[in-house]
Amino acid sequence: MTTQRLMLRPLAATDARALYAIFSDPTVVRYWSAEPWTDISMADTAIARALEAYRDETELRFAIELAGSREVIGTVALHHFYNQYNRCELGYAIASGHWGNGYASEAIEAVLDHGFNEVGINRVEADIDPRNDASAHVLEKLGFRKEGFMPQRWRVHGEYADTVFYGLLRDYWNDRKAS
Ligand SMILES: CC(C)(COP(=O)(O)OP(=O)(O)OC[C@H]1O[C@@H](n2cnc3c(N)ncnc32)[C@H](O)[C@@H]1OP(=O)(O)O)[C@@H](O)C(=O)NCCC(=O)NCCS
Repeated sequence: MTTQRLMLRPLAATDARALYAIFSDPTVVRYWSAEPWTDISMADTAIARALEAYRDETELRFAIELAGSREVIGTVALHHFYNQYNRCELGYAIASGHWGNGYASEAIEAVLDHGFNEVGINRVEADIDPRNDASAHVLEKLGFRKEGFMPQRWRVHGEYADTVFYGLLRDYWNDRKAS
């Protein structure tokens, strides 16, 4: 998929170095439900899993490339598909050096269009740390609604972390697109 400034494509084995740079950065995973990666083999494993899930149609994980330079600056995924309910979850991360340029919003918008219009998804869920203000802002800008709060849902980075749960229905998406 292409957007104005980005190309979204399935991950490839050659993305390991770029992904390792992103997910070994403690600032990127600060509000993530996992610790920073400590070895490039973790990138190889994640890519192999993503490709298997892509083939099995249980997850759509994309590399986010800058259209001009072809630099991989992040990933965005629709994952945890529950096909009988047309429901899935959304995850995303952008390399910290590229934050604040609108890239996450642009990539997620394209993936949501694809999910709702091509895959037939009806509901997308996102689970974020309440301290992750940038992530909350991106979700709310795209029409996600805050649906719930779950205290101490995760144990990561040496502490329990809460969840704010967001949901986006196809109806909200279509209304937003129409207005
Ligand atoms: C969350 C994340 C993906 C945002 O990426 P990004 O490319 O910088 O996002 P965008 O530029 O599209 O949008 C960020 C928005 O948040 C706003 N923002 C940034 N920091 C903010 C803060 N501390 N408080 C409130 N809003 C903030 C920006 O102003 C921008 O809004 P605007 O477009 O209305 O100006 C990025 O910070 C990231 O990768 N974080 C680490 C991984 C992560 O937490 N992923 C989500 C876990 S579920």
